[in-house]
Amino acid sequence: MKYKRILLKLSGESLMGDKSFGIDNQRLSLYADQIKEIYESGIEVAIVIGGGNIFRGVQAEEGGMDRTHGDYMGMLATMINSMALQAALESVGVRTRLQSAIEMKEIAEPFVRRRAVRHLEKGRVVIFGAGTGNPFFTTDSAASLRAIEINADVILKGTRVDGIYTADPEKDASATKYDMISFDDAYGSGLKVMDMTAFTLCKENDLPIIVFDMDTPGNLKRILEGEQVGTIVRN
Ligand code: GTP
Repeated sequence: MKYKRILLKLSGESLMGDKSFGIDNQRLSLYADQIKEIYESGIEVAIVIGGGNIFRGVQAEEGGMDRTHGDYMGMLATMINSMALQAALESVGVRTRLQSAIEMKEIAEPFVRRRAVRHLEKGRVVIFGAGTGNPFFTTDSAASLRAIEINADVILKGTRVDGIYTADPEKDASATKYDMISFDDAYGSGLKVMDMTAFTLCKENDLPIIVFDMDTPGNLKRILEGEQVGTIVRN
């Protein structure tokens, strides 16, 4: 396998499947099956999932709510998704531990870096919930931070598109996909891979990001087997 320890970032929205809100069970089990596939090959897997299918802090602000208040609500939304994913994984026989950046000890362990690493070493999938525990940070930033903290080899950012394009492929028919792009070129071309905080964290800590389509079954496994899937961003 190409990588030993990965951090998988899933978007909350993609959990909606064809629904307009909440969690689509079919999509959830599709993800669980894909994760199980790589888990069984012995790779150490940590996961960060967003919460946008349930609540978005930014939108709350538009509605007049204080941004920090909305962000905390968003963090709770990620916990709901994390718990759903944890249950889905365990139902297919994947051992998991859920750690939360905001203490809620009745439902999750608190985030303890050394303990998370130990869980990974023991073959448990570790889900990190509640983002970074701070407002003004996205779950992409949480994914970057946790990936660096646990020494992951790569961040796999699962999306609905199959990589990074020269332009928006839905608007520009001549747009082509990059197989690889450097952090500097992605930045220079104004391509949005992650928000700037997350992007800079990865660049400065030399942590590659692979953007790929998580909704195509088998993609996750193909990446780990070294196939060219999606776009890799690296120094
Ligand atoms: P090892 O010590 O490596 O065997 O790890 P472990 O996670 O199996 O041990 P532990 O006895 O700490 O945890 C047993 C179970 O309790 C696991 O499912 C943990 O996720 C869970 N657990 C541990 N600490 C907490 C906590 O503070 N809150 C909640 N809700 N669950 C916890």
